[in-house]
Amino acid sequence: MEKIEIRGKRGLKGSITPAAAKNSVLPILAATLLCEGPCTIRRPPRLADVDTSLALLAAVGAGAAWQGLDIITRPAPVVGRVPPALAGAMRSSVFYLAPLLHRAGAVYLPLPGGCRLGPRPVDIHIDGLLAMGARAEVGRDAITLRRAGRLRGADFTLRLPSVGATETLLMAAAVAEGTTVLRGAACEPEVEDLAGFLQACGAQITGAGTPVVVVQGRAALTGCTYTPLPDRIAACTYAAAVAAAGGRVKITGCRPAHFATFAGFLQRIGCGVERGRTSLTVARDPTRPLRGGQQLFAAAYPGFATDAAPLAAALLLGAVGESTLYDGLFQNRFACARGFAAMGAKVQDEGRLLKIAGGAVLRGAAVTAPDLRGGAALMVAALGAEGVTEIADAGHIRRGYAHLAADFRALGADCRQSCV
Ligand code: EPU
Repeated sequence: MEKIEIRGKRGLKGSITPAAAKNSVLPILAATLLCEGPCTIRRPPRLADVDTSLALLAAVGAGAAWQGLDIITRPAPVVGRVPPALAGAMRSSVFYLAPLLHRAGAVYLPLPGGCRLGPRPVDIHIDGLLAMGARAEVGRDAITLRRAGRLRGADFTLRLPSVGATETLLMAAAVAEGTTVLRGAACEPEVEDLAGFLQACGAQITGAGTPVVVVQGRAALTGCTYTPLPDRIAACTYAAAVAAAGGRVKITGCRPAHFATFAGFLQRIGCGVERGRTSLTVARDPTRPLRGGQQLFAAAYPGFATDAAPLAAALLLGAVGESTLYDGLFQNRFACARGFAAMGAKVQDEGRLLKIAGGAVLRGAAVTAPDLRGGAALMVAALGAEGVTEIADAGHIRRGYAHLAADFRALGADCRQSCV
């Protein structure tokens, strides 16, 4: 089991560049299966979920491997069957439904795993594929999809703007016969990034990043070389770290426009924020308390990102005034509240709603990372706490950050990771 130890109250300084976005890289790796030529994905982060994706690609017969800092994929005959251990290891195994259905004519996918953020159904993925002519058997433990002939373009309205379902349907539509119109699509930058990858492979897509996306299907996609977006949630995590610990850090090679709601929040609570086109500098004087009294509502893009909500919560624990955070997407986003409480915070976790009394003086404690972003939020809280915090089950954090402890250390934090 991995463990992280942090001694708080050391100011951070310097500059740091986020890696490529996990939530772009994972669907793009799945989408390489649609391509009839090799693909080079430039500098993906070395995350546990990226390793799982490579194992999954290998398990279905595709060639995919690291070459230096890049991943190269090569087309090969595939089988439409995902092993249960790989499907269960991450939520992103759902991205293999559409590509394997296209390539193998049928796909068997044991139900995807991932962070336990509450129920995470896949009905919109399935309904969209059914509208495009697939047939489905949805069992308690697995999904089987088949197609007779090519998938057909459809005019489909998503019942809510699911990021993953929009991505599944973009992949299916790119190789379907005729035109697909997706209405009520998710607008997240990572959706646009997947569309950018598919376009680089010859797909014809307009409107990605808006609620109405139109795709003209192509019989075949080529390969390409593609550089995914910088990770906006990693950028928020570095920004939150300096807001907790104090100091001044420049986050370079990022797209501040993609996390403007988080930067605005930092400003409202009393941090200095300077925004450039590809950088964001965050400063905090640790002798002055942050301003609480915030009401945050996490929602689909361009709303406040659900993945950044636990990070915001970590900053509000010691801020002056009561705050509330409500997550409109996931029922169990704030499992990290237990760790916050162990560190001395006054918090009430009511599922979607987290109430924070504010004004806490955080002290190091032994806590457990409940999930990826909750684990990162405990690290952020620990950077602002007196004494040493020990975070158990820190392996969750590596699902989304290649080496967050080392990143914080490079900025001056007293932070180490070990296996116990
Ligand atoms: N939903 C359905 N039916 C579906 C699909 C989704 O009811 O068929 C519901 C979900 O249960 C949830 C809501 O719709 O309540 C939003 O889910 P969405 O499909 O948008 O999320 P996702 O595709 O499963 C991606 C990211 C998450 C991020 C969310 C929201 C990836 C690999 N994951 O998940 O990232 O929180 O979008 O922005 O892209 C993370 O990085 O830590 C993470 C959890």
